[in-house]
Amino acid sequence: MSIRLPTACLVVLVGPSGSGKSTWAESQFRSEQVISSDRLRALVGEGPDDQRAGKDAFEVLDLVLERRLRRRLLTVVDTLGLDPARRTAYLALARQHRMPCHVVLFGTPAARCRERNRTRDRPVPARVLGDQIRAFSGAAAALPGEGFDGVHEAGPVSVVPSSMVTAAESASRQEDRPMALQFGLHVPSLTWAGEPGDIRAGLSGLAADAEAAGFSSLWVMDHMLQIPQVGREWDPMLDSYTTLGFLAAVTTTARIGALVTGVTYRNPAHLAKIIATLDVLSGGRAVCGLGAAWFEREHRVYGWDFPGRAERLDLLEDALRLLPLMWGPGSPPFEGHRVRVPEAICYPRPVQARVPILVGGQGERRTLRLVAQYADACNLFGDPDTVRHKLGVLARHCDDAGRDIGDIEVTHLSTAVCAVDRESLNVRLAAITPKGRTPEAFAESVQAGTVQDQIGRFRELAEAGVRTAIVSLPDLASGDAVVGFAPVVAAFAGAGDHHRVSRPARGGAPNVD
Ligand code: CTP
Ligand code: MG
Repeated sequence: MSIRLPTACLVVLVGPSGSGKSTWAESQFRSEQVISSDRLRALVGEGPDDQRAGKDAFEVLDLVLERRLRRRLLTVVDTLGLDPARRTAYLALARQHRMPCHVVLFGTPAARCRERNRTRDRPVPARVLGDQIRAFSGAAAALPGEGFDGVHEAGPVSVVPSSMVTAAESASRQEDRPMALQFGLHVPSLTWAGEPGDIRAGLSGLAADAEAAGFSSLWVMDHMLQIPQVGREWDPMLDSYTTLGFLAAVTTTARIGALVTGVTYRNPAHLAKIIATLDVLSGGRAVCGLGAAWFEREHRVYGWDFPGRAERLDLLEDALRLLPLMWGPGSPPFEGHRVRVPEAICYPRPVQARVPILVGGQGERRTLRLVAQYADACNLFGDPDTVRHKLGVLARHCDDAGRDIGDIEVTHLSTAVCAVDRESLNVRLAAITPKGRTPEAFAESVQAGTVQDQIGRFRELAEAGVRTAIVSLPDLASGDAVVGFAPVVAAFAGAGDHHRVSRPARGGAPNVD
């Protein structure tokens, strides 16, 4: 088993001279990730064992370490690590930067350290080495109680996204006692499809692959320009609902929706008409994703109003109240904060008795309250702790609204790059890593992992209360990203244990049963 370390972490080496610390660090990390007191002695003094340069070397080490942790860069501190006060200081610095801190122990037999030491150009005095070896025994005994996030014997390292450090155990829980989780495929970009003339075939092929892989929903963005988080503003961006109409025609089982419709872009009665049409033409598969909109620039370029946040949330609330009226019988009048519809009339009515409304955003004061009051689904993002926290907030809003949180479908959006093993994962990543990103930081940003890693990650999200995991696959250009993700979908399909977020005690976090 290799040592699994999260992308952003501090690694402190502990071992006597000659125990193999620098050799190990060199074999497992890039040189710029390793701060070595010996190399710094050589840099600010006359050589790696210039003891008179020790104080300066450690001052530089502390400075470099602080700057790297500020940037959340994976860093290995290659010193003897035998001074408990220094170890405590490293741990405190990592905590300050909210980074995990791991120790790697080099328990090389004393005789071998001595033997290696003797053959070195400038051996450490035998007495000093003896002191180090004794200090190492003390350190090894004390370390489990020092509060580090992991204490490992030296061995091969896998650096994985922070969401996958515990994935192996979580994946085996999924194998032993499977939980159900639905998957949705989000398609926020079309650059993978090629030229505009290729998009039609690309999208229908993708939709077919997604349904065959077991994805139960397909999502597109509702934007006029590509958003900066995904690409460049001249990258292709199709009109959302025209695209969803096309997807309705080329699919048979998947639910389809915009993740999420910006409430500022359309007259909300007209939006109700569009979604009713989509529901009819898809045979009852429409989902209404709705949010308060945020991308000011696209409002500006089209000459649209971009009201302040409070007003946009008012608009969202109006739409949430209006849409079911529009889809319901008769033609009742509607008067909201900002929207007035004299006759909420829309025929044909949708095929579904209620088109599910998913509200995007996890603002705790207002957005999640709107979810509790009006929505059928929420859409969260972040790690399982964040999901638990947001669901705790949602549960309190549900209490206030007299709503059972179990009736709200919890969806979660994240990116994933997936491959059967680490080698093929690295090939996938190499094809899409932008210039200037470190491989591990990019892998973290796209949540890259093997099938097993992804199963573990999604198991943890399922345990936190997620019922539908919506993923975007940034390597669609590879042509087999959807097929590559299929085993993850399969691992959660057909599990009897359909989890629900139970109603927690007031003030408590939700429990999963
Ligand atoms: N070495 C080895 N096989 C290993 C590890 C180390 O033969 N698996 C050798 C190295 O080539 C080196 C010596 O042992 O000549 C000491 O290894 P090094 O990694 O430099 O040990 P450190 O723990 O870094 O020692 P120091 O604290 O003195 O820097
Ligand atoms: Mg060394």
